[in-house]
Amino acid sequence: VIVDVDLGERSYDIVVEAGARHRLRELLSERAPNAQCVALVTSVPLESMPWFDLDSGVDQFVLSVPDGEAAKTMLALEGVLETLAGRRLSRDDVIVGVGGGAVTDLAGFAASVYLRGVALVQVPTSLVGQVDAAIGGKTAVNLRAGKNLVGAFHQPLGVLCDTAVLDTLPERDRRCGLGEIAKCWLLEGRDADELAGTTFANLIATSVRLKASLVVSDEFERGARVLLNYGHTLAHALEKIALARDTDELRHGEAVAIGVAFAPRLAKQLGRVDDGVIATHDAVLDGLGLERRLPRGVDAGAILEAMSHDKKAHHDLSFVLPGSDGFALVSGVNDDEVRRALDDFKGES
Ligand SMILES: NC(=O)c1ccc[n+]([C@@H]2O[C@H](COP(=O)([O-])OP(=O)(O)OC[C@H]3O[C@@H](n4cnc5c(N)ncnc54)[C@H](O)[C@@H]3O)[C@@H](O)[C@H]2O)c1
Ligand SMILES: [Zn+2]
Repeated sequence: VIVDVDLGERSYDIVVEAGARHRLRELLSERAPNAQCVALVTSVPLESMPWFDLDSGVDQFVLSVPDGEAAKTMLALEGVLETLAGRRLSRDDVIVGVGGGAVTDLAGFAASVYLRGVALVQVPTSLVGQVDAAIGGKTAVNLRAGKNLVGAFHQPLGVLCDTAVLDTLPERDRRCGLGEIAKCWLLEGRDADELAGTTFANLIATSVRLKASLVVSDEFERGARVLLNYGHTLAHALEKIALARDTDELRHGEAVAIGVAFAPRLAKQLGRVDDGVIATHDAVLDGLGLERRLPRGVDAGAILEAMSHDKKAHHDLSFVLPGSDGFALVSGVNDDEVRRALDDFKGES
């Protein structure tokens, strides 16, 4: 499947297929014909994966960064930039990010600032990377004050989503990707029966298409792209609570699945949808094997408290919610309504 992202002169294709990584050479010869050197930015454990056999067709070198979130620091960024300069990577050359979302976020940000911007290709190897992080041009590193506080919009020349490399992905990382996929599937108005009848590659492609279309209509995230935050208001609060307890019990994608289960319940509380919509959400999440209940020991009070930090930034609680006219950002949601919906949700489990 090839999904084109139509952004005028910044347009590019996202290829979703088994073996997509082997298209790197062809992609570079079409989109960066003057490139003489390619930096393959990846993380240490991925370098030795059986599928790490990328061939750019020109001089290339591997630049390894720490694995996971440890890649997304100013220090790691500086290390990457110094290496690129040491290797004399020029403005005609290309940075290729090969890894999970952490690596593609770092590689993308490095490409956006090195020599005031060089070309970038993303080869996302995690499910989160393929359906979310590597698409759309957002790049970032973290600060101590918070995640993704320094970054840039920098669209790639192309994205190669190779489904074959997912074979080595740990189960938990796979589940995180499925959380975002469930979100996209429901935003697309699809149900559990359609889910049962589809292939894994099509699940990825459906999410990629949805994200690509929202990026096209809102490249710099001023409006429509906010729909991708479906399930995320609760998810962010749950992640914050888990982090404060210093537990690894909840990853982002897992929290999103719970947030996606909660959203139609809150929507019903607000009179926007009926029970059928809740049942559809539950069936899709169950169909993907995702946990959709609140973690034990987390109550409505703690969640509202965690949400109130977001509130300070945005002045009131807002949620992307389903309704009779489709999905919309609903602002100014009353604390009491949220509490009641959370108590009911908690009571179900
Ligand atoms: N830029 C965006 O729009 C955007 C969107 C969503 C998420 N993100 C970012 O993405 C990051 C999360 O991405 P992630 O979930 O991919 O986490 P990650 O990059 O930390 O990768 C998770 C783990 O999977 C490993 N891995 C990746 N591919 C593998 C493979 N094929 N086989 C075996 N192991 C593999 C990685 O080495 C790592 O240990 C976060 O930093 C988040 O902020 C960015
Ligand atoms: Zn997310």
